[in-house]
Amino acid sequence: MNVSDTEIVNSILMEEGMQPVNEPDEAEVIFVNTCSIRENAEERVWNRLKEFKALKREKDGRLTVGVLGCMAERIREQIMEKEELVDLVVGPDAYRDLPKLLADVDDGRKAVNVLLSLEETYADVKPVRTNDNGVSAFVTIMRGCDNMCAFCVVPFTRGRERSRPAESILDELQRLSDQGYKEVTLLGQNVNSYDDGEHSFADLMYKASQVDPEMRIRFSSPHPKDFPEELLQSISEQPNLCNYIHIPAQSGNNAVLERMRRPYTREQYLDLVEKMRKIIPGVTLSTDIITGFCDETEEEHRDTLSLMAEVKYDLAYMFAYSERGRTLAQRKYEDNVPEEVKKRRLSEIIEQQMNIQEELNKKEIGRRHLVLVEGTSKRSDEQLRGRTDTNKMVVFDRRDYEKGDYVEVTITDCTSATLMGDPIRKSSIAEFEAEPVAV
Ligand code: 5AD
Ligand code: SF4
Repeated sequence: MNVSDTEIVNSILMEEGMQPVNEPDEAEVIFVNTCSIRENAEERVWNRLKEFKALKREKDGRLTVGVLGCMAERIREQIMEKEELVDLVVGPDAYRDLPKLLADVDDGRKAVNVLLSLEETYADVKPVRTNDNGVSAFVTIMRGCDNMCAFCVVPFTRGRERSRPAESILDELQRLSDQGYKEVTLLGQNVNSYDDGEHSFADLMYKASQVDPEMRIRFSSPHPKDFPEELLQSISEQPNLCNYIHIPAQSGNNAVLERMRRPYTREQYLDLVEKMRKIIPGVTLSTDIITGFCDETEEEHRDTLSLMAEVKYDLAYMFAYSERGRTLAQRKYEDNVPEEVKKRRLSEIIEQQMNIQEELNKKEIGRRHLVLVEGTSKRSDEQLRGRTDTNKMVVFDRRDYEKGDYVEVTITDCTSATLMGDPIRKSSIAEFEAEPVAV
């Protein structure tokens, strides 16, 4: 989401004649686009700001430093008055105001706009992608969140939920296709409540699939409480809607889910997973898990382990609970699971998850996949890296293939994180014949 927001900010600033540079010491203005989701995200920002303060001193003050995004509202006082680290603080709904705020700073004033909006979707801003691979792009389809999960700061930092009109999303997809992009991820805090007055999320996904049959469409993140069955049908029918779903569970225990204000039970969640696997044979799944939430007992923790063992996620993002200001959990509950217990529980779920991933990846050996090449592998220029439709990373010999190609690959080996493969031929979504999946 922040990458996507930065692309909107690029566009607004470049309209003003500003240009991006590669190194901080070449810059006249530096913005840090911040995240508040967990304490450690915020700590990293503080460290960066201290570095930039030193840089500013080296440049005799000829540097403007701004904080953008979720931390803006939370820390504006602290940051501007006590620490004097920044000149400019701009929240996620105020990026259009950046040129004016920069002018205020030039006039010697500190500038702040942290107002949240009910309408802003930046629908007419054409994002400038300065830092992607030219193959896959993010497209924001909605902003904010109304769900108020007890642990989560997003509704406070990013405001109320609002959807960007489908027409502007589809126009952007067409533009990306014309520019040669082969994969788009539709983004929102809670994509299945997408509603622009005319289209549901399932409608939008179907229309997105029709823009360019050779452009893969992914999305993140849906909520388990109201996942539309119609969308599962579309995913199973449309070859370019990827057979991969990120479906955050957060916990495997009903009492914890209730304390988290996640309005579904373990049983309902498992039913949804079963339905997904039935309608989309071979679909891969990933999740988000929080461990050590307020009052979490060992037994409740074991329920999370058992949920993860039962579902067998292909990928999981696992976090220790981090208390955030203003959330329901901070106001009503005690953050009472000791740090070392959180850490131990987190390493237990990580270890189990690594074993599951390795086991699942081993089953891939011998299978064929259509891989979209994203670039060279991190280890060697002689190898390419790309992803399967099911979102698994595959590394294989470069030969004559290049970034942006769809390559048919046979999987030969794996680790818990990556598949290795032999390339067979260049192909396309239309040409590729997937092998039947044993269910
Ligand atoms: N502590 C730990 N993890 C959190 N997440 C959200 N808020 C917190 C928090 N306070 C995790 C959730 C969410 C993901 C994006 O971040 O798992 O799905
Ligand atoms: Fe946060 Fe819950 Fe909204 Fe996700 S759905 S952004 S976890 S409040």
